[in-house]
Amino acid sequence: MTHIPRRIGLLTGGGDCPGLNAVIRAVTKNALDHGIEVVGIKDGFLGLIESRTRRLDDRAVSGILAAGGTILGSSNRSDPARFWAGSTPAGEPIFEDRTDACMDVIQRHEIDALVVVGGDGTMTCAQVFVGRGVPCIGVPKTIDNDIHGTDLCFGFLTASATATEALDRVHTTATSHHRAMIVEVMGRNAGWIALHAGIASGADVILIPEIPFSIEAVCGVVRRRFKRGKRATIICAAEGATPVDGHPAVERTVASSPDPIRFGGIARSVAAQIEQRTGVESRAIVLGHVQRGGSPIPADRVLATGFGYAGVELIRARRFNRMVAIHDGRLTDVDISTPAGRQRRVGLDDPLIAAARGVGTSLGDDPSTPGTGAQNRSNVGSSPTSGRT
Ligand code: F6P
Repeated sequence: MTHIPRRIGLLTGGGDCPGLNAVIRAVTKNALDHGIEVVGIKDGFLGLIESRTRRLDDRAVSGILAAGGTILGSSNRSDPARFWAGSTPAGEPIFEDRTDACMDVIQRHEIDALVVVGGDGTMTCAQVFVGRGVPCIGVPKTIDNDIHGTDLCFGFLTASATATEALDRVHTTATSHHRAMIVEVMGRNAGWIALHAGIASGADVILIPEIPFSIEAVCGVVRRRFKRGKRATIICAAEGATPVDGHPAVERTVASSPDPIRFGGIARSVAAQIEQRTGVESRAIVLGHVQRGGSPIPADRVLATGFGYAGVELIRARRFNRMVAIHDGRLTDVDISTPAGRQRRVGLDDPLIAAARGVGTSLGDDPSTPGTGAQNRSNVGSSPTSGRT
């Protein structure tokens, strides 16, 4: 494309997160300011498949900066190239390619470029449109903070703040009752929320998917604390945390989703085992979608505004098929294909891992069990799971 797009399509895909409306506002305001019209596509790629759109003008985005959710709606089960169209009588999912229907909508609305706000799944879905010659710009979002190519995604800091507040509250009631409390947080295969909220709240144990945990090591912490007269043990567990000799707790599979596994249940399982092995009364709390809801904290409003603004600047510069990103505190951009099929997980050499251990927090690993990492910094790099993925 040689000219600057006159009309862009904007969609929010995947699981929602705080800050989406701030991006919608920033994209729309910056685009309108430069004479570019904005077509909002409802419910992510589903709205593109089903031709459901709304024009975004200044009025439509007024007053939404601090609002949670997304005024456009979202969907995490609508890959146009592999759209779930039902099941066979035997229960096998049927997938259809709906890319042509999307291309019809793009042409009918005279959309010159797409801005897709989403996670790795959304960036992957955008590839098919890049391949069809539709200029695309990606804006990375997820509370999980696991998108390759950017140091930070908006939504993550708000989710971590929500989880921290919950852990702080749990701490007081656990102390009243001499209990072990296990708070399960989101994050899928990445332990960023658990690590941040765990450190911020002074959790005694943090369990993340990147470090398989030993239930005996966790129980050891509980026993030692109660022996020393501590009135509570607080454990922050990522939903994807996995025991050394077991599997992650899967709550359900969503056949229509490109990423069908939904984790859930690790807190309950850990609580039951602590109670059984140590005799300490234990409770499990699952924070779930509370972490995705509500108003973004100021840092996320700022990041989302910067990302939305930068996305339109890329369009104006005709630098297409890029994803906006932040590196070392500066807004930048990477190829939009960067996050496809990858996840930015916590590396065992991450300074926060050392910091957590340094203040006496257990990561649930047991040095006496080979392959589960080590309790001291010098061994961290030699663990089989070390290194960023
Ligand atoms: O990827 C964001 C996320 O909230 C994960 O942390 C969580 O595992 C998943 O989405 C939940 O998905 P759903 O909204 O389909 O239950």
